[in-house]
Amino acid sequence: MVQPGCLGGDNREMSIHSAAVWPELVALNADQVDLSLVDRFVADPQRAESLSFALGDLWVDVAKHPIDAATLDLLFRLAKQRGVPEFFAAMIGGQVVNQTEGRPALHTALRASADAVIEVDGVNVVPEVHQTLGQMTAFTDALRAGQVTGATGHAIRAVVSLGIGGSHLGPTMAAEALAEFAGPLTVRWAANLDRADLTQALAGLDPASTLVVVCSKTFTTAETLAAAEQAQAWLAAGVGDDVSAHLAAATAAPERAEAWGVPADQVFTFPEWVGGRFSLASSVSLGLMAAIGAERFGEMLTGMRLVDDQVVAEERSVPVLLGLLDVWHRQVRGAASRAVVPYSHALRRFPDHLQQLEMESLGKSVSVDGRPVEGPTGAVIWGAAGTDAQHAFFQLLHQGPEVIPVDFIGFAQPAGGVNDALMANLLAQAEALAIGRSEQEVAATGVAPALVPHRTFAGGRPSTVILAQRLTPSVLGQLVALYEHRTVTAAVLWGINPFDQWGVELGKQLAVRIADELSDPESSPNHDSSTNSLMARYREWRNPS
Ligand code: F6P
Repeated sequence: MVQPGCLGGDNREMSIHSAAVWPELVALNADQVDLSLVDRFVADPQRAESLSFALGDLWVDVAKHPIDAATLDLLFRLAKQRGVPEFFAAMIGGQVVNQTEGRPALHTALRASADAVIEVDGVNVVPEVHQTLGQMTAFTDALRAGQVTGATGHAIRAVVSLGIGGSHLGPTMAAEALAEFAGPLTVRWAANLDRADLTQALAGLDPASTLVVVCSKTFTTAETLAAAEQAQAWLAAGVGDDVSAHLAAATAAPERAEAWGVPADQVFTFPEWVGGRFSLASSVSLGLMAAIGAERFGEMLTGMRLVDDQVVAEERSVPVLLGLLDVWHRQVRGAASRAVVPYSHALRRFPDHLQQLEMESLGKSVSVDGRPVEGPTGAVIWGAAGTDAQHAFFQLLHQGPEVIPVDFIGFAQPAGGVNDALMANLLAQAEALAIGRSEQEVAATGVAPALVPHRTFAGGRPSTVILAQRLTPSVLGQLVALYEHRTVTAAVLWGINPFDQWGVELGKQLAVRIADELSDPESSPNHDSSTNSLMARYREWRNPS
């Protein structure tokens, strides 16, 4: 069994602080604390060149972080001492890296080429992956050609994909990101337990020509099963009781999907070793493939593979670099959150996907050996599309007391057409955050002295700028894999397991108990007084007499 932070390297302790290079990193940061980004740019005319990196079709500029070549050397030594390269080799090679659940985390196998060999328990898993991809391709090709018919003989023209968390956020984000590549089908998504979500998704659709895809790795998730039943009833009201032709499923539990009523040949399976938030390349993206077609979907997988290959082949890979910077900002410089701002309407849901990817993976307080982690772990991830975000939360980024690193993502040819103003805004915000405006500069503009402090910008606010020419399926795949590996890097550095999510369990269990109590008028709930009183208030307001 492979443990993050314990593979190879010269440091077999679980704490990042015990890495030999850690004191040097902390000392270098303390030495440079008064060195502004302005000073750094002035001192080194080659700064942008030496701190910008190509990753496939992505251009990643980290020159607006308070780092230099010495910081990078120390950070990559840290990665080595924490066993990051060995962890990636083990993960991609199919070893058990998800210790608390005793299984591999092989999402990379979902995008491996057909001739790759990746063994789990001595069996090559790649043929099974490609068999499912073939099944998805045949089905979505037929759907897009109008050859799949429902109970009444009408061709299916709409697909409604149900799922939540990893069975929803990634595929929905990707379908919106790649909307310009969408074909003839109407594809909609619903996740929320609030029935209004599905009601809205079904609005205007004809049950006779609608396919409902139930996406759930476990096929036990309460929200998804509730939506599936609501959808089943809607279908039955339109086409009669036998709605099986209108149902498909994406799951790691095919027997449960079949028992629920999905015909076996419309169940698309994926293995247990794919974590929900890492499952974009799995069959939970059946709706995405239906929207953009198998060829475009294949291009997305190729983009992901390109990044997978870099993370294994290059010790100084871009995903590892970004993971190192995330941990450094969090632990050494105390940044409690990070904002992600795509200057792209198409990519506006990327922060939502990253919230689950990063916060469910890195929101841990114990290391893999069960001991408390020293210091903070995953940052709060938040964000929205630029330029909208500029008019919502950028004030706090520029002048709030806390420094919040930002990821800016932009495209030379966005879906809406070349737009210099859009790119100018991205570049201007990154520059303003980094360079700021000093009191002297403000005073020199003739501003009233009382207003000078209000109009001063501290600067020194770090950001990463990721540029690509166009948001193609391949570029989207590269972006997603970049963030996946960045997240895993941070987990390995901290010595935590990025692949489990025990923290979501307690609330789920309590919800079952509370739901029973709410529906039983005879029950006398025995919770804390706040919960008891809120339950009483809810009951009173739910059915006013
Ligand atoms: O939020 C908890 C979680 O288990 C996620 O990790 C997962 O993506 C989501 O629920 C949905 O789970 P499933 O795909 O099994 O329905």
